[in-house]
Amino acid sequence: MKTALITGITGQDGSYLAKFLLSKGYDVYGTYRRTSHRQLERLVSMQIHKQTNLEYADLTDQISLNHVIKKVQPDEIYNLAAQSFVGVSFYEPFLTSNVTGLGALRVFEAVREFSPHSKIYHASSSEMFGNSAEIKNENSRLYPASPYGVSKVYAHKSAQLYRKSYDMFISCGILFNHESPFRGLEFVTRKITSAVAKIKLNRQKKISLGNLKAKRDWGFAGDYVKAMWMMLQQDEPDDFVISTGESHSVEDFLTKAFEYSGLGNWENFVDIDKKYFRPSEIDDLVGDYSKAEKILGWKPDMKYEELVKLMVDTDFTLEQNNKIDDNF
Ligand code: NAP
Ligand code: GDD
Repeated sequence: MKTALITGITGQDGSYLAKFLLSKGYDVYGTYRRTSHRQLERLVSMQIHKQTNLEYADLTDQISLNHVIKKVQPDEIYNLAAQSFVGVSFYEPFLTSNVTGLGALRVFEAVREFSPHSKIYHASSSEMFGNSAEIKNENSRLYPASPYGVSKVYAHKSAQLYRKSYDMFISCGILFNHESPFRGLEFVTRKITSAVAKIKLNRQKKISLGNLKAKRDWGFAGDYVKAMWMMLQQDEPDDFVISTGESHSVEDFLTKAFEYSGLGNWENFVDIDKKYFRPSEIDDLVGDYSKAEKILGWKPDMKYEELVKLMVDTDFTLEQNNKIDDNF
């Protein structure tokens, strides 16, 4: 039986990945942090919390990472933990750099010192590319447009450096946006689908949003965690773009979600609020996943329209049972 350690197991991707690895027969460990509120809700909803081994560790605390990596000696480490919300990275740039940038370096150092045989998957991001018109691949220029993007570039370059300098197996997945019913409520897709559910049930009148013109390459998280695992089944570490190859605007997502729900024209329900605009924005992100298709045999399964419907349907059922938080 192989052992895997997931940093960030409580997040969207961590929970999907844990479920996937359990289905493959892995002994799954995950790191989590002490908080004053419940944070295992995704693992509990997926009914896998009792099958995973949880260990305290924080990406800002080298000792905690050393301890867990030394103890578990995993065959595979998936470094998913991060301050992952781009909007907040403008308000908390130091924290974001510390967790999302330096935090990855701390994981690589802990593995180098205490478990050099472990293969590492590192979660890089399409946010590293910033603004430019072309379809992005593994060789596209990195020109980040947020403190989060800058931090991800630091971690990505560190991963490449450690791979080359110390012969470590570190593969980087350059993942484009991926969503699901387990997406955090602050990200725009889930913000929209959770609001649609509340509006439909007469529990909310309007939703406030920012830049509706921005376009993103939205895929399904369940498809994307499979690509992470595939990268670690290769003989050599490498970098891979994981995407769908098409982008849609926030306005298009709104249109599809409101029409599908039966509420009709989104314009009757949306306010534009300046506070959701970012100091610097990426207009459009589209990825070319042909390298992943050729080498890993990976391609996305779920289509964009299906993803919108899945998120609308799930949020409606959740809200009927009063299970969506009211924080956002
Ligand atoms: P997420 O839902 O925000 O999950 C982030 C995870 O990191 C959570 O488990 C969180 O723990 C943990 N974390 C945050 N700060 C930490 C710290 N200081 N120490 C230890 N753990 C910490 O993010 P996601 O969508 O699953 O994304 C997973 C990874 O992929 C992230 O690195 C993200 O930047 C990257 N990525 C995501 C996408 C996407 O579209 N989803 C695209 C490209 C790259 P708590 O539950 O305690 O907060
Ligand atoms: N969150 C949010 N809230 N975004 C809004 C809103 C709003 O009210 N209104 C418009 N947007 C726009 C944002 O300005 C952005 O252009 C787009 O919707 C998507 O925003 P998010 O869903 O917050 O995602 P993101 O693209 O900034 O970042 C996500 O994808 C990255 C990969 O490209 C995150 O998952 C990152 O962790 C990930 O690396």
